[in-house]
Amino acid sequence: MAEARMPSHLRLGVNIDHVATIRNARGGDLPDPVRAALQAERAGADGITAHLREDRRHIRDEDIARLMEELKVPLNLEMAATEEMQQIALRHRPHAVCLVPERREERTTEGGLDVAGDAARLADFIAPLREARARVSLFIAPEAAQVEAAVAVGAQVVELHTGAWCELHAQGLHAACNAEFERLRRMAAHAHALGLEVHAGHGLSYETVGAISALPELAELNIGHFLVGEAIFRGLDAAMAEMRTRMDAARA
Ligand code: PXP
Repeated sequence: MAEARMPSHLRLGVNIDHVATIRNARGGDLPDPVRAALQAERAGADGITAHLREDRRHIRDEDIARLMEELKVPLNLEMAATEEMQQIALRHRPHAVCLVPERREERTTEGGLDVAGDAARLADFIAPLREARARVSLFIAPEAAQVEAAVAVGAQVVELHTGAWCELHAQGLHAACNAEFERLRRMAAHAHALGLEVHAGHGLSYETVGAISALPELAELNIGHFLVGEAIFRGLDAAMAEMRTRMDAARA
């Protein structure tokens, strides 16, 4: 088998969910997450990610409709693998659909999707999305069984969950942090060797983005919470520009 080529450009996908979180805290229309998406696009985002949760706690249905209408860069629609969400994705036909696990009580997406434990259902779920030409991505923990199951169910992309690694980094637990990073490194290589496009995301910040960007198999990072927080102090353009600089420096 010919060796798969390494991606030349590491894309930055900007997740705008947390702009919607602030909007929804007051129940009105401001701040507008679509405005944030368009500004991120102008500032060089390679794509926009938005998670339509079943409880609509941040992104709403009309946000997805407007993002589809107004964005020029690709939309990555994050969603749970439910029938309602499948119908929404088939109606809007975003560039990419990222399937994530979802429990109402969690504050954010906590674990990865159990692809290996739900393979038959996910294969049926993914087939119509692929027929609608969506690139289907699965948000998974860096485990070989999940990577291999992602291939088996017909996904083209895996997004490796960096949340546990970032959390260990923040707590200064160096040995556990290094072990988790090693899992990410090995699974990025494994997924790429199996022909999957490899993304990563969750909890990334200026402190962690360099190490993850240096993994040559990665094609995309999806970053939200840190960038939206940093934008409060510096503006979104400056916050993104520094992230881009750090990604490029690590890749060089
Ligand atoms: N990727 C996925 C699949 C996610 O669920 C999230 C969080 O919504 C992110 C990336 C972005 O994570 P963060 O907001 O912590 O940067």
